[in-house]
Parts: sequence; C-alpha cells; structure tokens
Amino acid sequence: MSKILVAGGCGYIGSHTVVDLTDHGFNAISADDFSNSHRKMTEGISNLIGKPLKNYDVNLCDIEATEKIFQENPDIEAVIHFAAHIYVPESVEDPIKYYRNNLNNLLNVLECCMKYNVKNFIFSSSCAVYGNTKQLPVTEDTPFGDAECPYARTKQMGEQIIRDFCIANPNFNAVLLRYFNPAGSHESSKIGEAPILENTHLVPILTEVAIGHRKNMTVFGTDYDTRDGSCVRDFIHVMDLAHAHTKAVEYLLHGKNETTCDVFNLGIGNGVTVLEALNAFEKVNDLKLNYSLGERRTGDVAAIYADTKRSREKLGWTPKRDINDIVKSAWDWEQNKAWLTE
Ligand code: UFG
Repeated sequence: MSKILVAGGCGYIGSHTVVDLTDHGFNAISADDFSNSHRKMTEGISNLIGKPLKNYDVNLCDIEATEKIFQENPDIEAVIHFAAHIYVPESVEDPIKYYRNNLNNLLNVLECCMKYNVKNFIFSSSCAVYGNTKQLPVTEDTPFGDAECPYARTKQMGEQIIRDFCIANPNFNAVLLRYFNPAGSHESSKIGEAPILENTHLVPILTEVAIGHRKNMTVFGTDYDTRDGSCVRDFIHVMDLAHAHTKAVEYLLHGKNETTCDVFNLGIGNGVTVLEALNAFEKVNDLKLNYSLGERRTGDVAAIYADTKRSREKLGWTPKRDINDIVKSAWDWEQNKAWLTE
C-alpha cells in the first residue's frame, strides 16, 4: 500500500481526498495543525476510512517538526500539498499572513522531499492564477493574468517555485492542479466544508442562509454580460475533485507524466451562473432562500470556466456530479454537522 502524505488532510478538500485515496487502496497520512479545520474532523474521516487517521498536528512552516514527519515515515511515496490559507478578502487585508504561510510551508515541504527522497508531488493551485482572463474556457496554456489578490499571487508564485524546483531536481515530478469552484460534500454527510474562519464562498453561504445561521444573502451583481446577469463559475463537486488527486498520484507513480511538471484544470467545464446555482439549491432541496440582488463584489471576474480536455484525456478523470448533486450534498452536510462543534 503506497503511503501518501496529505498536507492539510483535515481541511475541506484534503479530508475528502484522504477518504478517496483510502477507497482506492492508498495509505493516506495527514499533517494538519487545525488552523482552519475542526479537530473533530478526524473522527468523521476515521469513520469513513475504517481506522484512526494518522495526523501530525504540525505547522509546516516549522521546518524541524516537518522534518520529523519525513523521518518517521521514510516510505512516503508522494506528497499532496493542500495546506494553505484560502480566503481572497482576508488575503487582501493581511497579505503577510498569506505570503508567510503559503510560501514558507511549501518551501519546507519541498526541501524535505529532496532531503528524504520523495519524488512525487501534487500541488493545490487555483483558477485564480488566470486572473481576469477574457479567453473562455481557460486551457492550461492560457497565460497567467494579473493576480487579483495576494492569495492568487501565492498560487502563481507557488507554481513557479515548483517549476524551478523540478528543473533543479530532474528526478522530481510534480503535478499542478488548478481548481475551479469546489463545493458540496461527501455523500455520507460524515465530512464536509467546515472552516473555522468566516466563509465567503457561495455554496456554504446558501446552506447557512437555509439553516438560519445567516438571515439573508446578496447575489453580488446582476448586470454582468452573462445569460442572466450574474457571474458564471465552474462548480466542481469536492468528491470529483478529491478523486482527481488519486488519479494524479496514480499518474505519477505509474510514470505517465509527460513533463516533470504537468498542469491540469479541474472543473466540470460547464459554467453555471450564481442565480442558477441558487435556484438549483431551492429546487433540489425544496426550500426558499431569503436573498436580495445587490451590487457587484470587488475583485469578481464576470465568468470563468475550465477547458477540461487535458485532465479528462491524460489523467483519465471524469467528473460524475453536477450542480444538483453539489447543492444536495452541501445541504445534507449543513444539517448533519452540528456534532463537530458540540
Ligand atoms: N457570491 C454571491 N454572494 C455571496 C457569495 C458569493 O453572489 O454571498 C458570488 C460571487 O460574487 C461570485 C460567485 O458567487 O460571483 C462565486 O463566489 P465564491 O466566493 O464562492 O468563489 P470565487 O469564484 O470568488 O472564488 C473562486 C475560488 C478562489 C479563487 C477564485 C478566483 O474559490 O479560491 O475563484 O477567481 F481565488
């Protein structure tokens, strides 16, 4: 059983990936300091993987603590690096926090990979690297645009650091995965999105309004040049996204990579507007949401969605779920997650 270190394995996408890796015969261990995840999340994960999750409660900016993980686990075959701060507005307010964490922990993990002979690396990148592009759908060859915020810049810089590292270490192989809009939760409702920090993403806001944690919500902008005036996004179910990581691990371990640093877009390839997502939520869950139509949010791009040809063909990855599955599983999770904070 190949051992995979999941950095940020108790966070939103990390936890789902630990479960998917285990379902596909891998031995996933985690390093997570619970800076944006609940300690109890380990219970949900352990329940789904059928054994206690091995998690190192380590801040990966601490090089000594990070090294200990690699020393204790000389059989790690690949690292999946999720551990990062992820909120666009917070990154604008506190850029140092983002540069310090997202870059330092990446450098430390790469350094440990080199020192402890781990040759396979998968990086959580984002469609944010494309900036406000006019070229739709975006392909992996669409050039980087101006980063809209420090968070996006840490992803652009992270990708560049990994490229340089691959050039300097020809036996090292990396896959950069550019996520579009991850949402939804595991069908069991035993794990799901549960940040500690204030969430600003659309789908969890829908569920928070539905359950009454928020009185109402605003659709940010209805005068965009789109089919109903609201923004278009490529919502990808977190379990499909998680499975892409398993595929990426297999891709590297089987030596199928074309270069030492391959890049893949991970979305469905279909744009859904904010109003369509909201309407799908109401229809699928038979609920009415209290919302108003408001002004545009600063920094939002009008539309972005992925060309997924490369990930489908090269990774052999096919997303199976759509916006209806996303809003159903997200709502199921919202109604089941109270135990996390009890
Ligand atoms: N939205 C609302 N109301 C809300 C929250 C969001 O209308 O209360 C809208 C936003 O304006 C946007 C859409 O829903 O049009 C999606 O917004 P999210 O905040 O859920 O996601 P973003 O598209 O802003 O963010 C995603 C990724 C980021 C990445 C960014 C780059 O989650 O990691 O794309 O474009 F940086």
